[in-house]
Amino acid sequence: MLILGIETSCDETATAVIQDGQRILSNVVLSQIAIHQPYGGVFPEVAARQHVLAIDTVIEQALLEADTALSDLDALAVTSGPGLVGSLLVGVNAAKGIALATGLPLVGVNHLEGHIYSNWTRPLGPQGNDWQPPSLPALLLIVSGGHTNLVLMPEHGVYRLLGHTIDDAAGEAFDKIARLLGLSYPGGPAIQQAALDGHPDAFSLPVAHLAGYDFSFSGLKTAVLRQVQQLERATGASIDPGRRLKTAYAALLTPQQISDLAASFQWALVSALVERTQQAASTHDVAHVCVCGGVSANVLLRQRMRAAIKLPVSFPPLYLCTDNAAMIGVAGSYAFRRGEISGLDMDVVARPPWPHRSPLAT
Ligand code: KG4
Ligand code: ZN
Repeated sequence: MLILGIETSCDETATAVIQDGQRILSNVVLSQIAIHQPYGGVFPEVAARQHVLAIDTVIEQALLEADTALSDLDALAVTSGPGLVGSLLVGVNAAKGIALATGLPLVGVNHLEGHIYSNWTRPLGPQGNDWQPPSLPALLLIVSGGHTNLVLMPEHGVYRLLGHTIDDAAGEAFDKIARLLGLSYPGGPAIQQAALDGHPDAFSLPVAHLAGYDFSFSGLKTAVLRQVQQLERATGASIDPGRRLKTAYAALLTPQQISDLAASFQWALVSALVERTQQAASTHDVAHVCVCGGVSANVLLRQRMRAAIKLPVSFPPLYLCTDNAAMIGVAGSYAFRRGEISGLDMDVVARPPWPHRSPLAT
């Protein structure tokens, strides 16, 4: 079975050809990061336009690298949401065009379900030889730029939300704190890099403890901002105390202070993720813990999660942590096997209500 995956939900134009629901024959990712970097985040209209410019070439490239033609495919899997509507539309319309021209079935894939299935993808190279997919039931921690969810997955295609963030997503917090510290976009890798020269206990930052399995990162963000203001005041500069995170920029800090703040922030945020996941893993009957989404690339998160959880823990290979179409092709393969075919009237949804909150969450 061959499936072409298409992903354009944010700022990556991505396509992939997946064989038998697990083997990556090609995985093309055209990143727009350099284009959005001057804005410190994704500029939605620019992202959509770049997808339009790139999509045809990127689809051709995936087919070429997989030595496949459209006529060899069994289905098309495309991200239908959540994401930026203008961006999503480009991928969905490209897929619809191919479906109309070829008669291939179309499978709409939830972007977060795609991230989940990055853990069900056979790794490239020798690592893939003795690879086994994660066992079910699994506990999933989805940590991306737009989402932070703890989810139970009793079987394929069945998801129960245990908890989510009540304010910023983990990746969003990384991006905002990176901007405050004058580091580059995307913030996660930049903070991880800066933290290498810092001390995680240099600043004591709060970790929110909400009831249940929800997360909150706004208190942590404000605490970093207050620390920055305090350090800047210590230089004798006059600082506007009402300055908000959006407009603040730590121009007066030394490189060591920036590294210490990056390390302390990263430690506190990772603590929140690990503590909640550990709590959920020990309370629910699960055989495996899978972490996914852009933040799952974080080295400290990988180390601390593996040390804290006694069950097998899976992370996607680094090249599948951030947005890609291989994960969409794999998730789409499972959905296709279940007969979940979308019509040509499939629409994009910026914020689909998925997964639903579980009665087990309380
Ligand atoms: O999953 P993703 O590519 O896009 C969304 O679906 O949102 O995640 C992007 C997010 C960004 O916020 C980025 O800062 C974060 O993932 N990220 C990281 C790392 N690499 C990417 N966060 C922490 N540590 C990293 N190494
Ligand atoms: Zn994503």
